[in-house]
Amino acid sequence: MKVLVIGSGGREHALVWKIAQSPLVTKVFCAPGNPGIAELAENIPLKVDDLPGLLAFAQKEQIGLTVVGPELPLSLGIVDLFEDHGLTVFGARKNAAIIEASKAFSKDLMKKYHVPTAAYEVFSEIEPAIAFLDTLGLPVVVKADGLAAGKGVIIAQTREEAVASVTDMLSGNAFGNAGSRVVIEEFLRGEEASFLAFTDGKNIIPLASAQDHKAIFDGDQGPNTGGMGAYSPAPVVTPAIHEKVMQEVMRRTVDGMAAEGRPYKGVLYAGLMIDGGEIKTLEFNARFGDPECQPLLMRMKSDIVPILLATAAGDISSINLEWHDKAAVCVVMAAGGYPGDYRKGDEISGLEQAAAIDDLFVFHAGTASKDGAYCTNGGRVLGVTALGNTVQDAIARAYQGVAAITWTGVQYRTDIGKKALGR
Ligand code: AMP
Ligand code: GLY
Repeated sequence: MKVLVIGSGGREHALVWKIAQSPLVTKVFCAPGNPGIAELAENIPLKVDDLPGLLAFAQKEQIGLTVVGPELPLSLGIVDLFEDHGLTVFGARKNAAIIEASKAFSKDLMKKYHVPTAAYEVFSEIEPAIAFLDTLGLPVVVKADGLAAGKGVIIAQTREEAVASVTDMLSGNAFGNAGSRVVIEEFLRGEEASFLAFTDGKNIIPLASAQDHKAIFDGDQGPNTGGMGAYSPAPVVTPAIHEKVMQEVMRRTVDGMAAEGRPYKGVLYAGLMIDGGEIKTLEFNARFGDPECQPLLMRMKSDIVPILLATAAGDISSINLEWHDKAAVCVVMAAGGYPGDYRKGDEISGLEQAAAIDDLFVFHAGTASKDGAYCTNGGRVLGVTALGNTVQDAIARAYQGVAAITWTGVQYRTDIGKKALGR
């Protein structure tokens, strides 16, 4: 079977890497892919939002399975389009992908179906928004309703900052249309975890637990990014927490979406805040997390293609997903300046030395090839991902890989996985 993966980041490199290992697969294409992906798949120069182009390509090549990586094509309805043309595609339909595309929708869904989440209100006018945030105390969280590439969440430490964020978003200065409504919510304390599950709209098969590191600097300092590193398993998700998340978050959400006439098929990602035995849902994503996908897929023992096909077909009841006992850690290496304006075109050295390390894989996220060498071409450039017998072993091995690789202006966190060691 031929498989098409849509996207170009570290998540898609990990998906291509895992899918290419399946005995069911004869060839993998990736649109648009990246130079690391090109070592395993044929890259097709089509943008992720070129829905007609992607459809024509899948039809021409008789693609047996299309796997959608990022949220943008999901929110534009790529799954609806492909299914309407009889193609097999893994991902949420447009009316279900709204769970990520609109924070107001997902908060209202959580409230209606009793999914634990932070207290909130949704506003499209500045004055009532400010009146509400004054009732919440500080810090307070201001979120743009729509997709804002991971940047639409402001944790305001002062009233001035909160008022400025609300005013910027609702006046259309920040995030354009995505900011035409805002969610204002209570600030939660605790430790975050990423909980992902495959679902066919009825059955739910959880992936292994994972934890991302959102802030740019060590110790969770500085502005938020798309994610600076991740590991799995995450011990903050104890068996008791796991059970609670399955019952109170995943089950209620999947059933709620079905009851709303928006059956959810694909991978459902809940961002959680865990505080002692308490869980609250921060957000939902309609896709695999990036970088979480990288350590998760390195730990996945089963062939991934049968579960992708079964999810797309709408019945995962006979699927059994197995995991390696080992831990996996992914350290993201980013370009200087990220998550603000960042450098591009710096030549990367040391990739061969890193690749020679056992149980380590370097996933490309933002690279370009230039005269036979790789150079930086994105904010997050590489995801250096390693397996180990314990999280501690995996951390040591991943940082051994990181130490071999460098370029001008490189930055990375030195504390990925550290929270797991404290437990
Ligand atoms: P979101 O896109 O809604 O997950 O928000 C991005 C990040 O902002 C989360 O991963 C958290 O680190 C932080 N965040 C969002 N909502 C809250 C909240 N209510 N309390 C504390 N931190 C939050
Ligand atoms: N790593 C966070 C996300 O994928 O949204």
